[in-house]
Amino acid sequence: MQPTETIWFNGKLVPWDQAQTHVLSHAIHYGSSIFEGIRSYQTATGIAIFRLQDHIKRLFDSAKIYRMPLDYSQQQIVRACKELLSANQLTNAYIRPFAFFGYGSIGVSPKQCPLEVSIAAFEWGAYLGEDSIEQGVDTAVSSWNRVAPNTLPSAAKAGGNYLSSQLIVEEYQRHGYQEAIALDARGFVSEGSGQNIFMVKDNKLITPPSTAAILTGLTRDSVFKLAQTMDLTVQEADISRESLYLADELFFTGTATEIVPIRSVDGLTIGSGRAGNITKQLQQAFFGLFSGETEDQWGWLDYL
Ligand SMILES: Cc1ncc(COP(=O)(O)O)c(C=O)c1O
Repeated sequence: MQPTETIWFNGKLVPWDQAQTHVLSHAIHYGSSIFEGIRSYQTATGIAIFRLQDHIKRLFDSAKIYRMPLDYSQQQIVRACKELLSANQLTNAYIRPFAFFGYGSIGVSPKQCPLEVSIAAFEWGAYLGEDSIEQGVDTAVSSWNRVAPNTLPSAAKAGGNYLSSQLIVEEYQRHGYQEAIALDARGFVSEGSGQNIFMVKDNKLITPPSTAAILTGLTRDSVFKLAQTMDLTVQEADISRESLYLADELFFTGTATEIVPIRSVDGLTIGSGRAGNITKQLQQAFFGLFSGETEDQWGWLDYL
């Protein structure tokens, strides 16, 4: 990670090294944090944060699920993200707003603990490797399933959920893959360790529904909308493991990941083993938002 000058911490910009918390903070022991991951881009018309309002709305939705009393409005956090980028002179950055229960009591209930709110931002390149966007990645189906319904809510982007992701990541790295695909508790396809998945079959896009233990990604939603402009049909439907093997194309979507083709699953080549035509068209439309080649008809680019 590349440190910057300052981090926004409980309403103030503090030096990077001073944004610290006590070792007995509740979140360290019980995973009681929520967060967002957002990207900014140097576009043809200035520095823009992609879908900033939607990300902050999701942060507040996560807080609602966990009944976390955020002392700030969504607009205050939106403004703080922009202030942080400007203060650190960042352009192509990754922004990490988060809230966590801090130091107060060691019991499981966080009621005696203060809710700390912070935002960090730093430069961060391609999540799955510099080549991944063009070359794609080799994946395997994880032996770890995603969370079962009514256990941990997958719609909340909460720190504790990422223990599931860590198990998945450790396993695929040990076996030499670049990412994995996890199934839900029923055995249907869910998502990657930190990204959603799409399948192309007979020129149709299919992606698992929100009930398949996924985080309903904003990049996933952007693909829905970009696909509409290309007259492509998108269907939310359960996907079986074996239909992954028979897909014409597969790709991942996520803020950190962006849009990455999947070239193999469990050692079986997907389609031609390279980014397929529909994946390429969607990548072009997505990255075109930042180069100016795709019109931002949704107001997704929030300029500093
Ligand atoms: C588990 C998980 N699923 C999906 C996503 C994709 O969501 P988004 O496109 O909003 O970044 C992410 C990344 O935030 C994630 O961590």
